[in-house]
Amino acid sequence: VKFAREGLPAGTPVVGMVGGGQLARMTQQAAIALGVQLRVLAEDPLISAAQAVADAPVGDYRDHDAVRRFAAECDVVTFDHEHVPTGLLHELESRGVVVRPGPEALVHAQDKAVMRRRLDEIGAPSPAHALVATPAEVVAFAASAGGFPVVLKTTRGGYDGKGVWFAKGPDDVAIDQAFATGAAILAEEKVDFVRELSALVARSPHGQAVAYPVVESVQADGICVEVTAPAPGLDGSRAARAQQVALRIAGELGVTGVLAVEMFEARDGRLLVNELAMRPHNTGHWTIDGAVTSQFENHLRAVLDLPLGSPAARASYTVMANVLGGDVPDMHKGLLHVMARDPELKVHFYGKPVRPGRKVGHVTAYGEDLEQVRDRARHAAAYLTGTIDE
Ligand SMILES: Nc1ncnc2c1ncn2[C@@H]1O[C@H](COP(=O)(O)OP(=O)(O)O)[C@@H](O)[C@H]1O
Ligand SMILES: [Mg+2]
Repeated sequence: VKFAREGLPAGTPVVGMVGGGQLARMTQQAAIALGVQLRVLAEDPLISAAQAVADAPVGDYRDHDAVRRFAAECDVVTFDHEHVPTGLLHELESRGVVVRPGPEALVHAQDKAVMRRRLDEIGAPSPAHALVATPAEVVAFAASAGGFPVVLKTTRGGYDGKGVWFAKGPDDVAIDQAFATGAAILAEEKVDFVRELSALVARSPHGQAVAYPVVESVQADGICVEVTAPAPGLDGSRAARAQQVALRIAGELGVTGVLAVEMFEARDGRLLVNELAMRPHNTGHWTIDGAVTSQFENHLRAVLDLPLGSPAARASYTVMANVLGGDVPDMHKGLLHVMARDPELKVHFYGKPVRPGRKVGHVTAYGEDLEQVRDRARHAAAYLTGTIDE
């Protein structure tokens, strides 16, 4: 199906999202309610979002012609991932396409070295870091940063822990593995953190911004597995500081749309920025059921320069648990049990074939008692994954 824009009701905004993953799929839920026409540039005809979006032409996000054709029929172009080459985005802008976030902002979510440099310039706190070109430079960096272990990261293209290595000493194979990629490598001190936090904000072109409650996120093997909103026991002034850092970054970088600032709450008291994402983020999925305005709705409002919605939480605690692919290929079988057990549980499936460890959905529980809310979410996710049975 290919929609003629004239066929749509008067004034219907057309938002193009490059990439057809679960973020685009969940954006469609918000787009439907707002009467926004979402177009998706899909990787293949059955990818997650293409199952839910009628206007989803297939095309490669690196193919200039494909992206240009796609963008020509959109009022604004935004992203499901940060992998569209910066040069291509500049080209779109020079042709009059409205790109939000724009390439100048987005590069800070694409390139971890560019991000660190900019954060240093604006005085936002980072772990000790340096670009390294050889194993000897890794050793020299470690000596300057309090010793091993250190973290090595590809500056571009990583996600879900792919492109991140932990080197325990100068002879660790992780160092060779990182350089074997041939990619530019950023070294960082391995932060001894109490936990990971995420400060999510949305900012619109006219400069309005909202900050969601700061959440705690848990990663396993580099993949986000659980998010608790708000971060339990987080000191009020520290939470405010995290929100201020995120708002400041959004303003300084000229971000439009959602910005997620992944942070470390270090054992020594420092609050450090890990990385930035300029799109709806896994640590914001709780907002669909747990906040007055979901991150997907606020992303759409922001890129369309509409007033932003309240980021306030609906309950004292909301816990989101990712459903990772296990051994059970049929995710729907588990619904009978989890739905019967917990009528207040919210289930989100992404329409992705099960592969071990792959994010195929998430569940959300909210309520007043943190332990109960957490148990409900964990139980449902584990049951759907197939790691528990009863
Ligand atoms: N400097 C660091 N110190 C300690 N842990 C880190 C550091 N950098 C990354 N990590 C761990 O690795 C995970 C993935 O790293 P990140 O830079 O966020 O890459 P990705 O792009 O894959 O999300 C983080 O969520 C964190 O758990
Ligand atoms: Mg990350």
